[in-house]
Amino acid sequence: MQINTVAGEPWSVKADVLVIPIVGTAAFEGQLGELNRRTGGELAALVAFGELREKQFTSSVAAPGGLPVGRVVTISVGDAASVNREIVHRTGAAALHRLGGRHASSVAFWLEPLAAALGGDVEAVASLVARGVVEGGFDPRSLYRDDVATVPPVIDELTLIVPARADVVACTRSAERGVVVGEGTNRARALANRSANELTPEALADEAWTLAKKHHLWIDVIGPDKATELGMGMFMAVGRGSDNPPRMIVMRSGKEGEKDALGRHLAIVGKGVCFDSGGISLKPPERMEEMKMDKAGACAVIAAIATVARLAPGTPLLAIAPAVENMPGPHSTRPGDIVKALNGKMVDIINTDAEGRLILGDALTYAERLGATHLVDIATLTGLVSRALGDQVSGAFGTPDDWRDDVIAAGAAAGERYWPLPIVDDYRTEMDSWYGDVTNTGSADGSLVKSALFIREFTTVPWVHLDIAGTGYYRKTKPFAARGATGVGHATLVELALAGARPTGARPIGARAAG
Ligand code: BES
Ligand code: ZN
Ligand code: MN
Repeated sequence: MQINTVAGEPWSVKADVLVIPIVGTAAFEGQLGELNRRTGGELAALVAFGELREKQFTSSVAAPGGLPVGRVVTISVGDAASVNREIVHRTGAAALHRLGGRHASSVAFWLEPLAAALGGDVEAVASLVARGVVEGGFDPRSLYRDDVATVPPVIDELTLIVPARADVVACTRSAERGVVVGEGTNRARALANRSANELTPEALADEAWTLAKKHHLWIDVIGPDKATELGMGMFMAVGRGSDNPPRMIVMRSGKEGEKDALGRHLAIVGKGVCFDSGGISLKPPERMEEMKMDKAGACAVIAAIATVARLAPGTPLLAIAPAVENMPGPHSTRPGDIVKALNGKMVDIINTDAEGRLILGDALTYAERLGATHLVDIATLTGLVSRALGDQVSGAFGTPDDWRDDVIAAGAAAGERYWPLPIVDDYRTEMDSWYGDVTNTGSADGSLVKSALFIREFTTVPWVHLDIAGTGYYRKTKPFAARGATGVGHATLVELALAGARPTGARPIGARAAG
């Protein structure tokens, strides 16, 4: 997609579609008034008719009148005071999602109303909108079929219309970076949406391998023999139950143990359960098909390291994705089995459906062995987090608090919401094992907290655990996103890693220009 930036009037740009964000109540004065006048009063008429509404992410398609475009699309943004990066990003995505099944190849996007609402940061708006346009064009229905008539059109040209005073070169650069992040998010979504009969742990490792070669990343894929030899007892306890063998996928940019500009060797670790049947602790059938997306965390970290390699090659970063299939069978782990974790702890497996924490534990230990000083894991870990926070907010556990807050702040810059959840040491005794060091589940009370307490057993450096079980995929389409995997976490992890990029490399996506 070609990005052009034009500093000037929104009625001067030719395109198939002009997108007009409507912030708050449409007031037809200033530039919006002029746009309305040039449409022959069409926009005001749509308001009067009740078609163009204030409600956030509602949209309308209008005839252009005298404007040099094929159609006008309005996207209502909501109250100006509440506009933030997430909403700006979603406005871009909503525009493309609205065009599903329509014919267009060039889009002009008027950024001024969004920039004004976001405190004048046009470059951030350019990046977020461009990323949104890329992500809004994603529809997983085209993964397995090529005859779907309702997917959004492929856009070749995006023209960003910015205020006259804006730095056009900086806006274009910023938007191009947004496009790269959006493509990474879509890569994570495309992988996460794929079905378990074809996207096995091996196939996921092959995809990672292809990406690593393409972006000059170091990669090591550990199979069952090597994992057993290394002592990854928890990883193997889950992986052994399936005919599709497990793979521990390890990718790196930069050198082994190399510190980034912030003095960190950051590792991002994603849960890669290609299918979670529950194992011997079998899940009930309702919605079990969704468990093919239980690898969303792994897909986010694999895509994120590729995106970082594109934007700031050589930035020190480790990505680890333990990939398994959790299945019942004659080789499966049984409730009551005791296994030895890579860090030496004896783990009493009470519930084989609490498998994510097992594979993450060994992956985190391995990350530290490879020199990680800062850890972030991301996982569709518990149904409870979606009960508590729904599909719009991910849970963030971690220690120390500062590191957790850094990760949450990277999320805010990337337009993704996380809420801090407490690690309550008092509950740890409820996970004591009679036979071993720790059980993988405790009583139901506080079991969301216990999921984090368990993972913490396998970390000794600053660590954050992001639970995306509620946010990792949508059960219904939203005005700004297709049904299915959301790619959540990808942009946050990219933002977090790029904060440590060398000055010659890139600055974080959302960062303001210096001076
Ligand atoms: N993959 C699931 C969590 C999940 C549930 C993700 C619903 C997305 C939607 C995870 O492996 C799991 O089974 N968790 C159990 C934990 C329990 C056994 C302690 C859960 O949430 O019920
Ligand atoms: Zn799971
Ligand atoms: Mn499970």
